[in-house]
Amino acid sequence: MSRIDCPTCFSLSVGSRQAKAYRTMASNPERIGSAMNVLDFQKMKDEGRKISMVTCYDYSSARAVAESSIDCILVGDSVAMTMHGFPNTLSATTPMMALHTAAVARGAQSKFIVADLPFLSYRKGLKEAMDSVHELMSTGAHAVKLEGVRGHAEIIRHIVDSGVPVMGHLGLTPQSVHALGGMKIQARTDAAVKILASEARELECAGCFALVLECVPAEAAKQVTNLLKIPTIGIGAGSGVSGQVLVYQDMIGLNPGFKPKFLRTYANAFDTIQAALNAYDHDVKSGNFPNDSESYSQIPQFNREAA
Ligand code: KIV
Repeated sequence: MSRIDCPTCFSLSVGSRQAKAYRTMASNPERIGSAMNVLDFQKMKDEGRKISMVTCYDYSSARAVAESSIDCILVGDSVAMTMHGFPNTLSATTPMMALHTAAVARGAQSKFIVADLPFLSYRKGLKEAMDSVHELMSTGAHAVKLEGVRGHAEIIRHIVDSGVPVMGHLGLTPQSVHALGGMKIQARTDAAVKILASEARELECAGCFALVLECVPAEAAKQVTNLLKIPTIGIGAGSGVSGQVLVYQDMIGLNPGFKPKFLRTYANAFDTIQAALNAYDHDVKSGNFPNDSESYSQIPQFNREAA
């Protein structure tokens, strides 16, 4: 079936009135703090403009992202690792995702927010999947993301047909870490690239509006990106994709010791924060903090009597 013929492609399933309304809100390249919508993803790919995405899990980080030019936010299930200290993403639950999505939504009201459907939440049947989708969307997500396609394409169709944008995720799918034998680069052989491409097409046909490609060779990611109409967002997938996503803690240098090949760090937040904490500790212990200008004074006696 060709892309144009596909009866379930999202671009065709969006009602024309809704599409027209979205088009009039089309994206602004200098968007800082203004909203992106689901149609902007396609528009940006079509116009050859790269999409920037970062993960975010809490209110104060969301405020920083909100005031940046980053296009959109992923409340990823990596929250289980970065914010809760678990060794992988399998411990993320729908209530955990909902709690963090709500906090991010309060901090970044103007950003497009994608929330991850957690481990197995879309593999236990339609009702369970839709309950999870409902919880994430009602706490402030504008779209959900889920991993893989084999065995749940029908659930993806149902979510899309319910009016909820779905982002796919292929390549290294961390929820399958044990089946994959670890966090390994995927699609390194021609046969594996063929499977990746066919699953990507399946996700597009199921109605996904975009697709994350994680830890796949740059050439494979480029091939898949060129094959699809919908945009691809890469992490460890080279530059031939439609956009990039990084984990917030990793890109600001809050996760020392984690240095995969694909990661570029833009700050050294761990050292900056540690230096601030040590300076505060020193000032407290030396009696240098607080000083007079950081202390309250009593109201003079005559003013107190007048008051
Ligand atoms: O949960 C996450 O952070 C993700 C990104 C790695 C894409 O899914």
